[in-house]
Amino acid sequence: MAYLVSHPDEVKVLSYRFGQGATSIDKYLELDGYKSARKAIEMGPEAIIAEMKTSNLRGRGGAGFPTGLKWSFVPKQSAKPKYVLVNGDESEPGTCKDRLIFEHDPHSVIEGVIIAGLAIGSKMGFIYLRGEYRYLLKIMEKAIEDAYARGFLGKNIFGSNIDFDVVSHTGAGAYEVGEESALMESLEGKRGIPRIRPPFPAVVGLYGGPTIINNAETLASVPHILRIGGAEYAKLGTERNGGTRLFALSGHVAKPGVYELPMGYNLKKMIYEVGGGIPDGRALKAVVPGGSSCPCLLPKEIDIGMDFDQVAKAGSMLGSGGVVILNDTVCMVEFALRTMKFYQHESCGWCIPCREGTDWLKKTLTRFHNGGGEAKDIGNMRYLAQNMLGRTFCPLGDAAAMPTIAFLDKFRQEFEDHLNGKPCPFAHQPEAAMVGA
Ligand SMILES: Cc1cc2nc3c(=O)[nH]c(=O)nc-3n(C[C@H](O)[C@H](O)[C@H](O)COP(=O)(O)O)c2cc1C
Ligand code: SF4
Repeated sequence: MAYLVSHPDEVKVLSYRFGQGATSIDKYLELDGYKSARKAIEMGPEAIIAEMKTSNLRGRGGAGFPTGLKWSFVPKQSAKPKYVLVNGDESEPGTCKDRLIFEHDPHSVIEGVIIAGLAIGSKMGFIYLRGEYRYLLKIMEKAIEDAYARGFLGKNIFGSNIDFDVVSHTGAGAYEVGEESALMESLEGKRGIPRIRPPFPAVVGLYGGPTIINNAETLASVPHILRIGGAEYAKLGTERNGGTRLFALSGHVAKPGVYELPMGYNLKKMIYEVGGGIPDGRALKAVVPGGSSCPCLLPKEIDIGMDFDQVAKAGSMLGSGGVVILNDTVCMVEFALRTMKFYQHESCGWCIPCREGTDWLKKTLTRFHNGGGEAKDIGNMRYLAQNMLGRTFCPLGDAAAMPTIAFLDKFRQEFEDHLNGKPCPFAHQPEAAMVGA
């Protein structure tokens, strides 16, 4: 059971059922559950999509693409079946918010999938969970079973003339299958590598049919948007960034946890007020604002609103909302190495800049952190990372390169301090002792 936190600044739209036993379908119904799906049947596809556009909901999986717009790309007529996919792969280091939705409010995901299906004229949805979330699969499967038993899934849902089925599935624990087209390959039983685009999934997706794929949090937000209205939902956030989102605070922060805050909430306030600041009187060194692929921010750069546009303006990304806080005991060379170890391990190996680039970066950072670095390595690593950008088959290559460039540019002095056989200057710190180079 995930530990729940709370703060008075939270605006609990998405998380308001957390901790209330809403895995039970009766409790979910008592807390307004499945009302939005019934409403959506009456509204019809066009009105649902219009409401989604009004809400300014942007995808919570990382890229922040407007959800209503994505749904509108699906052709109305299709010879092949259309599908709705829930991306619950949640594997980016620092990101741990979808699991709370599956654990505490699984029906909201099912209800979101039904509404998305009604919007695009699909009769089938898939809920894809990361391999390590098998324990959540039990909760999800029970919820699906209960929804079938009540007639909310299956034939003639809610007594209408519409059929809709939902199937759950787990991956084998690969970050890459969180990438939408690799997820479709995996779901079809193939190796989880990305597809060439175009065509895009909205036109040619799962089994060649038009498909929308959304993050679990995105879809779980959908019933709430119909419940409170798109315009009200939009007002909770900032311009072009509607609503609230689940921010996962981790690292060197007094009160780590997942908090639901309005889009645009100030990052500094999030760390010092919501998160209770940096423990043990230590100073803040850097913040990774949206999961490991997002370039880190320095303390002087954190007085910004946490929405997609403001974080991009500050030179990073809001990503999947995983805020990792680092204090002044962290060796940034080691942190860069840990980050690269992840990407090197998770690279699917299909394209050379990513497969070779992540491996070279990992090897160089390992040698560097162990005191075997040469001055030219700093420039070489930057050059290598720069040349991976935009040259890989899917964004995993960028996700490895972008944070590396920020570490090298913002913490160059620390890299230089490791030169000439010098031991890591942070080796006496407990965090540095955890290095597994
Ligand atoms: C390597 C990689 C991993 C990804 N992992 C996830 C993931 O675990 N969950 C997710 O929702 N999106 C992930 N994405 C983004 C998806 O490709 C896709 O943009 C997203 O599911 C769209 O949903 P949204 O519009 O609701 O954000 C990943 C992308 C890449 C390149
Ligand atoms: S960028 Fe990396 S993960 Fe993506 S296709 Fe290329 S090798 Fe695979």
